[in-house]
Amino acid sequence: MTETMNQTQELYRRVFGTANEATVLVDGTSRAGIEAALVSLLAPGDSVLVPVFGRFGHLLAEIAGRAGATVHTIETEWGQVFPASVIEDAIIRVRPKLLAVVQGDTSTTMNQPLDELGAICERHGVLFYTDVTASVGGNPLEVDAWGIDAVSAGLQKCLGGPSGSAPLSLSPRAVAVLDGRRSVEAGIREPGDEVSDHPIQSNYLDLAMIIDYWGAPAPQPPHRSGLDALRGERVRPDPARGRPRRRGRTARPRRPRDARGCPRPRSHGVRGRRPQDAQRRRGGDPRRGPGGTRSAPRCSRTTASRSARRSARCTDGCGASGRWATTHGRTPS
Ligand SMILES: Cc1ncc(COP(=O)(O)O)c(C=O)c1O
Repeated sequence: MTETMNQTQELYRRVFGTANEATVLVDGTSRAGIEAALVSLLAPGDSVLVPVFGRFGHLLAEIAGRAGATVHTIETEWGQVFPASVIEDAIIRVRPKLLAVVQGDTSTTMNQPLDELGAICERHGVLFYTDVTASVGGNPLEVDAWGIDAVSAGLQKCLGGPSGSAPLSLSPRAVAVLDGRRSVEAGIREPGDEVSDHPIQSNYLDLAMIIDYWGAPAPQPPHRSGLDALRGERVRPDPARGRPRRRGRTARPRRPRDARGCPRPRSHGVRGRRPQDAQRRRGGDPRRGPGGTRSAPRCSRTTASRSARRSARCTDGCGASGRWATTHGRTPS
């Protein structure tokens, strides 16, 4: 597990163009990554500046507001992006702790240039977060070279993966902000562990804990990594059939079995020909036997001929009889 996690971190460092140690997957869709970044970097009362040029700028403002931050927005007509100088003017006016900006806003398909914003933020002592959900993989992104402190994404757009896992990376400067609020949760806390009097407001999306989890030599709950979900999606070859077989969520369901592990009878799939249809025609409840009692569990495996099956009795002691009684490979006597 740890090796797979390390490999995954390395892969996402390449995707983001960063050497950030704190590069992880947050479990959840893209907005789980956004929320983890904003709720962890912003304490109630901190101010944040959000340049809005589409629907997802509003989402950043909404999430920051719910984290208790004081939200300042600047807006431009949809279909436009901001010149860096306009963002710098707003930073000088508002003096935010954090600049939060979407790179590619899906609603307008516009891509905000980010390459000058890191230097502006550094000049004014502001943290710089960006949501690259829609743009990463299809547009240039250089987290380190552009001075981005926090970045989060999703897999479902240009990366062409399943949604449900949000890659995220934090610069050492952003990690230092988390360190000030680090609080080990009760129940796993040991003597000497940190307890903050202003902890990150979300437990599940507490990036300090998530980063600890990813950096631990043998990761333990509370966090399950999104790798479990990715594993479930993996396609691996089925040697028996010589073609790929989907595993996990998309695996073909096994045919239901009876108490002794025999496959339950298949329905014929054609209305009118299925055993329950015959029962219905006789005026009975298809789930009940002819006498109104629930029928004995049926077995389906038999080598008996059609006529022999009618009088067959399960010879292995399950009590099933009639057409579906199993002979478990033996011809009924
Ligand atoms: C730019 C951007 N940010 C955030 C999101 C939110 O993603 P999700 O609904 O997967 O949480 C989307 C979704 O399309 C998006 O395009």
